[in-house]
Amino acid sequence: MQNVFAGKKVVIGVTGSIAAFKVAGWVSDLAKEEAQVSVVMTRSATEFVSPLTFAALSGNDVHTDMFSAAKENTMAHISLGRDADVVLIAPATANTIAKLAAGMADDLLTTTVLATRARVLVCPAMNSRMYSHSATERNIARLRELGYTVVDPDCGMMACKEHGDGRLPEWDEVKEYVAQALTPQVLQGQRIMITAGPTREPLDPARFLSNRSSGKMGYALAKSAFRRGGEVTLISGPSSLPAPAGVTMQRVQTALEMYDAVLEHAGQCSVIIKAAAVADYRPEKKFAHKVKKDQIDTRLHLERNPDILLELGKRKKEGQILVGFAAESQNLREEGMKKLQRKNLDFIAVNDISGDSTGFEVESNQVLLLGRSGAELLPYTSKMHTADLIWDRIVAQLAAL
Ligand code: PMT
Repeated sequence: MQNVFAGKKVVIGVTGSIAAFKVAGWVSDLAKEEAQVSVVMTRSATEFVSPLTFAALSGNDVHTDMFSAAKENTMAHISLGRDADVVLIAPATANTIAKLAAGMADDLLTTTVLATRARVLVCPAMNSRMYSHSATERNIARLRELGYTVVDPDCGMMACKEHGDGRLPEWDEVKEYVAQALTPQVLQGQRIMITAGPTREPLDPARFLSNRSSGKMGYALAKSAFRRGGEVTLISGPSSLPAPAGVTMQRVQTALEMYDAVLEHAGQCSVIIKAAAVADYRPEKKFAHKVKKDQIDTRLHLERNPDILLELGKRKKEGQILVGFAAESQNLREEGMKKLQRKNLDFIAVNDISGDSTGFEVESNQVLLLGRSGAELLPYTSKMHTADLIWDRIVAQLAAL
């Protein structure tokens, strides 16, 4: 699943909010992803952004009302809705939200929404007092009852110089919901847990033992699971990456904290993937105050951390799929097989961390995927594509259960 957007028909409904200008960038990005973007603007939206802008960025005619669309003798409100793979309404004003909640169809956008059977995503954007009004809250709840996906607005400074809820979410977040709408929901109803990033084992308030994990591999696995409809919990060590959209995030620091967090959720999950680089050892003594450099004992005394994956293997339930990672620098297959068997895993993704093109920190990876039924060397590719390939194989095993 390299590019879920290519060739897909995305209808973007733009309504009369100052945030409409931000959606121009969204249209441009989707066009770069080779999606076929059709923009529908309400009359008030054209007061904020010219239809010409969206026409130039999408490469397609922009539809502004029912009757002008009929000029080409096409029933645009029917064909747009019928042929759409996803309908995204952004920004969505309180007025349009109210009309959608009531099932009204008095303009091209609301008519198109009633005529589609594709997923409908709604991104409310408005002044925070309008957003918190009970009528708007009731209408948004109604949209969810109708099966529309409402992407909650961000909290922040708005054009009206007020600070609060109601700010159009960032495209990086909304794009994941569009990707999810375009992806077969093979993980619908499945509870997934993924661990990512390093752990930090403190010596004193200033110093700790850790490793080079950035979290990229685990976060990619979480994104791929969300896109497939999974209910994802991401247990993350320290990472500078933003929380992936739609994922329940729990941040931890030490291996012991990760152990507690993982075992708290493990029993309810159908798939667990342990991509985190958990420290095997921690300093025997943790000092409350920074140790003076002339007082540090240069023979660092360490003690072992619990092996979380081993514990999960012992507790693995019938029908649960357990996936480990192995950071190796030699004998990848032998070392991976040992861990697969010793820890009672269904799969282990072995990656070479000795070079600078795979493993820690880098954007790409190459994984030797070992499973009960054999070994498969996945291609050297992005960590997002690696995550998709690993999920394809996990989903196949889930289906075979
Ligand atoms: O985060 P990135 O920068 O993208 O880098 C990705 C990665 C290299 C960290 C990732 O692809 C990876 O290899 N993660 C596993 C790293 C690791 O700890 O490997 P290991 O061979 O030491 O551990 C084997 C398995 O046991 C892992 O699933 C690990 O999560 C688990 N483990 C290890 C130690 C421990 N105390 N508890 C564990 O659960």
